[in-house]
Amino acid sequence: MKIFIDSANIAEIEKYHSWGICQGVTTNPTICLKDGVRGGAEGVKKRILEIAELIDPYPVSVEVTTDEVEDQIAQGKELSQWAENIAVKITISTRKGKPLLPVIYELVKGGVTVNVTAMTTFNQAILAARAIKSGRERSSEKTAKTNFISIFAGRISEEHGVEHARDVLANVRNWLDFHEYEGIEVIVGSIRSRENVEYWAQSGAHVLTIPPRVLSDCLVSARTKETVDQFLTDARKAMEEL
Ligand code: E4P
Repeated sequence: MKIFIDSANIAEIEKYHSWGICQGVTTNPTICLKDGVRGGAEGVKKRILEIAELIDPYPVSVEVTTDEVEDQIAQGKELSQWAENIAVKITISTRKGKPLLPVIYELVKGGVTVNVTAMTTFNQAILAARAIKSGRERSSEKTAKTNFISIFAGRISEEHGVEHARDVLANVRNWLDFHEYEGIEVIVGSIRSRENVEYWAQSGAHVLTIPPRVLSDCLVSARTKETVDQFLTDARKAMEEL
């Protein structure tokens, strides 16, 4: 299972990358805003390029910023040119619920790596996977990279509970495996706590994308600190007796 960092904060990404626990980065407009990206489209490009270079060859996801089908295709193609390791994030539908499967299909067919995002149901996820598979089959790019489908488990659980979110993740993974889909990975998105990490890590999803705050929380344990303290204290005593 891979760990992605759900952040646009360079210092945090650099830290976890240098620790060997970052195999990718996911961003979205909300994250960019929160992590201090300013300067409009140029500011976003600058930050994403910084991240792309830092984690290369791992992927960094960047989201399109328009709700129109044709504009999304054009923008998706442009974003994918920024760097080799860009995955273009497309929401499964527009804010009014219009499906964006044609965008997904067109981009993948054109050789763009996508991350289909903001999904909260099994049905959305398998249809996104189907559009990606068809795009890959018709693509002239013979070296198509891994595409992603992001299920927002946190948002699902706010409405239906953590167990239901886990079921959606597990069912999608089983469906992909059963039908022998290749080159598509399931990302667990909108993780809110270390309990979420522990629970959804067992869902069979390929990737957990974790915000830095949650990741740092995952590493803290009062009992571990106490245990290390005991070992070091006893080591000193043992040394003194030698
Ligand atoms: C994943 O790619 C998303 O960036 C992220 O997990 C969004 O989750 P949230 O908006 O529910 O926090």
